[in-house]
Amino acid sequence: MGKNKEIVTLERVQSLNDAVGQSKDLSDLFAMVANAKLGKTCFSSSLGQEDQVLTDYIFRNQMSIDVFTLDTGRLFQETYDVLSTTQKKYNKPIQSFFPNDKEVEELVSNQGINGFYESVQNRKDCCAARKINPLRRALQPYSVWITGLRSEQSANRSDFTVFAYDSQFDIIKFNPLLHWTYQEVLDYIESFNIPQNNLHQQGYISIGCAPCTRAITQGEDPRAGRWWWESSHKECGLHKTNN
Ligand code: ADX
Ligand code: SF4
Repeated sequence: MGKNKEIVTLERVQSLNDAVGQSKDLSDLFAMVANAKLGKTCFSSSLGQEDQVLTDYIFRNQMSIDVFTLDTGRLFQETYDVLSTTQKKYNKPIQSFFPNDKEVEELVSNQGINGFYESVQNRKDCCAARKINPLRRALQPYSVWITGLRSEQSANRSDFTVFAYDSQFDIIKFNPLLHWTYQEVLDYIESFNIPQNNLHQQGYISIGCAPCTRAITQGEDPRAGRWWWESSHKECGLHKTNN
């Protein structure tokens, strides 16, 4: 993005954030995005609980927002089950984006099939090939990217804003659930009878790839089960920062 265009985008994002304040009302927030005429909008769903709330909201209200998921090739069977159930329930498309075949073949021949356990660099290379590069391709036609991020999820996310300019992907990010609590997510799921991953009943909260996610015990940080063998990194690079 050119310098002037970036400044204009940052100003728009700032004024949208000033207007939303701490709002968590989805109809207000989505109306604001529609009124601002920001351009073609997509939503990336990991099929997690927050994302199932947004999928339900988007599909039930017949919004013209494209929904996609990144299929890393290493997801849980239970995640594929919730994808299939959700597509059937709403009878709407959720497009799967896959990693580039050559890139994954090269990755696996260089580091082995489970090489991500061996070093942080290997893990980052795997996340890049299986998640970040496909995400870049998926976001290409869009001006706005909706996510299910919540500020409570981690210290890193606590200073995120509802709207942001993401310079990594050159796109406006919209995080409508940013100020929702986990309980509010659960209540919404229950009141609209939304399909969810069976693993949530088995102690899994934040769910990513199968080999890199474990259940957590009571009192543990909600993201403690992600890349648990690493001491500090609880982000894969999709949302290192909000901008
Ligand atoms: S991650 O960076 O640790 O993987 P997390 O699982 O918390 O992210 O999800 C945060 C948001 O990132 C989700 O609400 C969703 O918008 C997006 N996201 C994460 N994983 C995927 C995925 N596999 N497919 C599509 N979107 C995803
Ligand atoms: Fe690879 Fe694990 Fe990252 Fe999935 S979460 S892309 S398996 S390192």
